[in-house]
Amino acid sequence: MKSSLFYIIGNWKSNKTVDEAVIWFQDFAFLWKKNPPNQKQVKIILCPAFIHLTTLKSLIELNHLPISLGLQDISPYPPGAYTGEISAYMVKDLVEYALVGHSERRKYFSEKRGELTREIDQAKGAKIKSIYCIQNEDMTIPEGCDIVAYEPIWAIGTGKPDTAENADKVAQVIQQKAKNAKVVYGGSVTPDNISLYARQKHIGGVLPGGASLNPATFMDLIVNATIQT
Ligand code: PGA
Repeated sequence: MKSSLFYIIGNWKSNKTVDEAVIWFQDFAFLWKKNPPNQKQVKIILCPAFIHLTTLKSLIELNHLPISLGLQDISPYPPGAYTGEISAYMVKDLVEYALVGHSERRKYFSEKRGELTREIDQAKGAKIKSIYCIQNEDMTIPEGCDIVAYEPIWAIGTGKPDTAENADKVAQVIQQKAKNAKVVYGGSVTPDNISLYARQKHIGGVLPGGASLNPATFMDLIVNATIQT
């Protein structure tokens, strides 16, 4: 068994209505209570769209499930006149984590390093932990991120994940660069391959997107990870 918790960070991306999110949670809570995962082995973080945070926080508390919430993106600006932005201050009581620099944010919203560094600073100021996403080991990792996610672009949503062995080598390089950060892998993680990543020395968790959208699949991820860790 790994000495530290194996993180499973679900990223719902731009999916689900409020009703769909509630149904997801009810189904997931039912599965959890039927077969509670070993909390000494895994830590679960869910990153839904902003609109779901309040509802999911209430449901998590009501059901006493040990799940943390995260944002998919965070404003690089402080609270104030920034129309449309979600500042770290606004969500500080709702989330413990925030994804920063996901490749889809970089690709579709032109987020660049300077802005991402400011996002990390804003998150830190509100005591929110950053999960900084990089696409390869050569990318610069700003100071202050708590988790670094290695997510090769060609593996995201393609069904073609990086091999666990290569992901582990990359994770080792990242660990040398970002000494205090946990390193997780993301890109086509499924219940069938999660155990391969959970076995690796330098990989401290995974960041599944597609496989987090269905509650039964998400639970299978957790069960299969705990068998291996
Ligand atoms: P995927 O997405 O699991 O659907 O490949 C991962 C991610 O984008 O974080």
